[in-house]
Amino acid sequence: MERVTVPITGRSYDVVVGSGVLARAAEHLPELGSATRAFVVADRPVADAWLHPLSEALAARRIHAVLLVVPSGEEAKTLDVYATVLRQLASQEAHRDDLVVALGGGTTGDLAGFVASTYMRGVRLIQVPTTLTGQVDAAIGGKTAVNLPEGKNLAGTFHQPVAVLCDVDTLATLADRDLRSGLAEVAKYALTLDLELLGMLERDPAPLLQRDPAPLEVVVARCVRAKAATVAADELDLDRRMILNYGHTVGHALERSEGYAGRTHGEAIAVGMVFAARLAEARGLASTGVTARTTRLLKALGLETEGALPPVVDVLAALKMDKKFRDRNRFVLLQAVGRPLVVDDVTDEEVAAVLREMGAEA
Ligand code: GLY
Repeated sequence: MERVTVPITGRSYDVVVGSGVLARAAEHLPELGSATRAFVVADRPVADAWLHPLSEALAARRIHAVLLVVPSGEEAKTLDVYATVLRQLASQEAHRDDLVVALGGGTTGDLAGFVASTYMRGVRLIQVPTTLTGQVDAAIGGKTAVNLPEGKNLAGTFHQPVAVLCDVDTLATLADRDLRSGLAEVAKYALTLDLELLGMLERDPAPLLQRDPAPLEVVVARCVRAKAATVAADELDLDRRMILNYGHTVGHALERSEGYAGRTHGEAIAVGMVFAARLAEARGLASTGVTARTTRLLKALGLETEGALPPVVDVLAALKMDKKFRDRNRFVLLQAVGRPLVVDDVTDEEVAAVLREMGAEA
């Protein structure tokens, strides 16, 4: 088991990573003061699989778990579902000492986090991510959000959890596609921030793909450490934290132009990382070889690195909705693996040229 602190002044918290973490949650959770109830936000399949050990652990701390069921996936991240959960808290007279627990994937975490940050102007949140994406990225760092019809994650807050419990056993039953999606985020950390992790993944990704808990624990903990340090340096996403968006600019644009019904987030950012590597090479920022290395890594992790792309105009339009957009396209690019840089002078023509090279229609 590994414990990683996210050192934010006045709001530090620990992320516990390992096998069997949920069953022993009672000892891993911090002091929770006078909380008497924990409102556990989860979709039905996740609740069926993992609510029991969590409730038992909370009961051992004299906290009663109350389940609030939400839809699976992006359907949870709507203003309607958000309002429904707030009203469930109010009708059950949840008070400010009570807890909200996000049990599930990134979408559950984003919704539950937004609820926790706004109910009675903020109650404490515990993140219990049960997907690889959640464990290595979404559950750490306090970003919360719901989607608006106009775009993804457009309403949200920063609300740090008081604890994050990452039980790698929950990954054993993850759908293959969801595991691979999470591996795209793992590849992001490896390519931008952790060359030792990159070496590990390049040497032998098989144990990860087989969901062996020991290497999963090592890899999740490495990603959590990279994320914790980045969030501590820039909690509000003003500069350094943008690096965590490597591959996400075009990734988000793909998801958006596919109506969130095509590639998963991880599949989209895999293509986004290939795009970013090609762009870095095309500008002479990175030496040739970065794209080939990126592509090799992603393929070894079972991810597609090419495939149908939306027309260039659609991707360019979607880029303008990116939260990093400031009159100009902003991208995280690599000078070399492990050396990311935020670049804000990329023209639409450059973007279009790389997209066309990747097979998009003009
Ligand atoms: N997922 C990127 C971040 O938390 O900043």
